[in-house]
Amino acid sequence: DADSIAYARSLIRTIADYPKPGVQFRDITPLLADGQAMQTVAEALISQANSEFDVVAGVEARGFIFAGAAAAVCGRGMVPIRKQGKLPMPAHRLAYDKEYGHDALEVSPELEAGMRVLLIDDILATGGTLKAGAELMRLAGAELASIGVVMELQGLGGRTVVPETKALFSL
Ligand code: HPA
Repeated sequence: DADSIAYARSLIRTIADYPKPGVQFRDITPLLADGQAMQTVAEALISQANSEFDVVAGVEARGFIFAGAAAAVCGRGMVPIRKQGKLPMPAHRLAYDKEYGHDALEVSPELEAGMRVLLIDDILATGGTLKAGAELMRLAGAELASIGVVMELQGLGGRTVVPETKALFSL
């Protein structure tokens, strides 16, 4: 309910000037350490999804945590979307541009064509990684049922880049 979501939100810690001066860093570790908040967030990530899904995909690294929790709560499997070079058996790869340089995301063959995916990350910031994750799902022939994040950071443009994203809260 709204109180539980507000409680989870209250556990986001703001650190000034990290990792560099002028940045207000939103630190999720107090939320992770709280069992009630984790349960609330996992359930809410599922209930805010647009449509039915078969599997939950999480973006490395903090997306793994919430995707795993959400998958366990609803009894679906979890598929990690990893940075290039980490998976022993990558089936699909998608290269994307970052602020400085470029990177690639990979997924294993457990993500099968036709699967309906709930794509999860912790934060929507610039939207670059989330957009790449979504494109990787489509490249694999999966159907993107919904995209969900725990929090959206305003003013970084992510909402424009991945407009279909659902966020539990906005900071
Ligand atoms: N917290 C965590 N991750 C982030 C942030 C933040 O404030 N901004 C961009 N990525």
